[in-house]
Amino acid sequence: MKNKRSSQWFQAPGYYGMARRAWLRSEGFPADVFDGKPIVGICNSWSELTNCNVHLRDVATAVKRGVLAAGGIPLEFPTISLGEMLMLPTTMMFRNLMAMDVEESIRANPLDAVVLLCGCDKTTPAQLMGAASADIPAIVVPGGPMLAGQFQGQRLGSGTDGRKLFDLYRTGKLTDEEWSEVEGCIARTSGHCTVMGTASTMTSLAEALGMTLPGSASIPAPDSRRMANAELSGRAAVDLIEKNLTPSRIMTRAAFENAITVLMALGGSTNAVVHLIAIAGRLGIRLTLDDFDRIARKTSCIVNVKPSGEYLMEDFFHAGGVPAVMNRIATLLHGDCVTVNGKTIGENVAKTVSQDDNVIRQVSPEGGIAVLHGNLAPDGAIIKVTAASPGLLQHRGRAYVFETRDQMMAEIDRDDLAVDRDSVLVMRNCGPKGAPGFPEWGHIPMPKKLLQQGVTDMVRISDARMSGTSFGTVVLHVAPESAVGGPLAVVRTGDEIVLDVAARKLELAISAQEMQERLSRFVAPPPHYQRGYGRLFLDHVTQADQGCDFDFLMLESTK
Ligand code: FES
Repeated sequence: MKNKRSSQWFQAPGYYGMARRAWLRSEGFPADVFDGKPIVGICNSWSELTNCNVHLRDVATAVKRGVLAAGGIPLEFPTISLGEMLMLPTTMMFRNLMAMDVEESIRANPLDAVVLLCGCDKTTPAQLMGAASADIPAIVVPGGPMLAGQFQGQRLGSGTDGRKLFDLYRTGKLTDEEWSEVEGCIARTSGHCTVMGTASTMTSLAEALGMTLPGSASIPAPDSRRMANAELSGRAAVDLIEKNLTPSRIMTRAAFENAITVLMALGGSTNAVVHLIAIAGRLGIRLTLDDFDRIARKTSCIVNVKPSGEYLMEDFFHAGGVPAVMNRIATLLHGDCVTVNGKTIGENVAKTVSQDDNVIRQVSPEGGIAVLHGNLAPDGAIIKVTAASPGLLQHRGRAYVFETRDQMMAEIDRDDLAVDRDSVLVMRNCGPKGAPGFPEWGHIPMPKKLLQQGVTDMVRISDARMSGTSFGTVVLHVAPESAVGGPLAVVRTGDEIVLDVAARKLELAISAQEMQERLSRFVAPPPHYQRGYGRLFLDHVTQADQGCDFDFLMLESTK
């Protein structure tokens, strides 16, 4: 066998070659483990604090079977994990920390390849960012989505339906007992959220990028095929070493364009825009918001899964998953991109046709996400068109401004809140530096008094993100954010705001001179942190349109 990366550790001359073999043999390995066999790391984001990934130790066991069967030696190691439901202020604050942990754990250790186990929202982009920077052969194994919940004869999609039912509970249409029943059934099994939220979107995009075996993303977590997929991925990891198929050879600009196309076809999470820009930035590939808008305009949304559609990930799996989608849109893709099984994406999806044309069918003629520009968002903002109300996509209304999320939460249920169905809710100080951490606060709840009038949607604008499971006419990621002096900082209650999604426009209806005068009086809020990781984050995080990676982790050409 040709010289491997791990040989630098185990075949090193002198004392340390012996010592490394000896110390690892304390785990019970025989001597021939170190005779040049490929060493495959299994980077595991398992944690009891991340319910979505809590089954990944079982998945790792299956990966190990595959690595051993292919003649490799598997060594499992932990990375920090990011549990969407528990971490405060937000997992997004720690995506870059996990990416650094993954990168340096790979680089510092005697690994010839690595299997990346992920599931919950940020764990997939963090694994891909770290592996991209380390750039040794790598393959992603997602944990898969949960099974659907059942409530009063209705199938529940975690996230999306929980939010809808919460509005019923807030307005007294669900009892405490019923709400408690929802709590017991909405997250029913292991696995990540079972709608096309950020987790399902990012694992699907890992597949579209070519970083998983075909069909990996949508297999439900409790399905036996999840383990078979993991075993096959372990075998594939050993093959990757012989082929020297590194992330930089797979995740090319063309592969990212495929991923953006699939994102639009999926009606996937807006968070994927930030994550794809960040992953690409690790490889010297500069993606812009305009790349997303250009591709959205020529790609139909064809996946009828919540929150853009009606079905759940389990149905999407039975319909054929990502390969069936890529087969349907093959003419829009770069079919010659190589993937982790050594075949091209075109070869991988050539024979997988949709098994259910209710699930894979046109939901909207254009992609799910539109990019907006204008004097309110000079560096861009985004809106998930497929989760918005068609009647609000062209709208002019008066702003009602919340200075912070705390203020919004304190006031949103007030009976005397001075808003009507045409108002535009504006919330600031919710971006990467302002919140801090760029949390998923953008889905501002509907004011209770409007819900009671039967109004279920209105235009809402912020510099926050939104959960991939959310819905509504919600403008997000306004850049630059208000905390660094973006124009969102100077909107006043009563100002008129113009949203025109067809024209990709987001405007504050004031003169350029008035805007200039207001901006000149801007005073930045005090920083949230003076020390520690929080300080590192504030000093180096980039804005939403640049992927919110740390500036010193991006390759120079992508800054
Ligand atoms: Fe983990 Fe939804 S909370 S994917």
